[in-house]
Amino acid sequence: MSEHSLRVLLSENQIRARVREIAARIDADYPDGVLCLIGVLKGSCIFLSDLVRAIRRPVRFDFIGASSYGAGKASSGSVQITKNVEMPLEGCDVLLVEDIVDTGITLTHLLRRIERHRPKSVRVAALLDKPERHQRPVDIAYLGFSIPDRFVVGYGLDYAEDYRGLRDICLLD
Ligand code: IMP
Repeated sequence: MSEHSLRVLLSENQIRARVREIAARIDADYPDGVLCLIGVLKGSCIFLSDLVRAIRRPVRFDFIGASSYGAGKASSGSVQITKNVEMPLEGCDVLLVEDIVDTGITLTHLLRRIERHRPKSVRVAALLDKPERHQRPVDIAYLGFSIPDRFVVGYGLDYAEDYRGLRDICLLD
């Protein structure tokens, strides 16, 4: 693994508490119907797996693969789909689950793709948001934390595939 200095921005406990709060809101907002969570690979997989276990109502989940970063810290601006959703979404309430919203380009692209499946509704749950960086209007129904314009790793988020397994979310210097 490459050597960088890491400083905790959000601790494991803070993340756990916030995921529980978001799950409780989702339970209240979707009392019935089929709720499908679509996790954006690979960064959201830990957030999604904690979220589905904190939500009390029944859920289904699948993943969509998107890549806009390559191995660097800056978005390339173009979104490649690396895996499509395989589960039928027609008539379902869909929650697109993102690790982090940066420019909003990935989210905008993915929402357009999800709409093609004719879901009943679509909302976004994102663990992190960097509002200063938005280049597209984004509507995040369930947000974990707003953070400053800094590169972060851990809890699923990587730098060149490293650091995804950290339990805290850390600033990478
Ligand atoms: P956007 O299209 O610019 O909003 O980029 C969103 C994607 O960029 C996220 O799903 C992450 O994969 C990646 N990303 C953005 N900021 C960070 C960061 O600080 N750390 C790790 N990945 C990031």
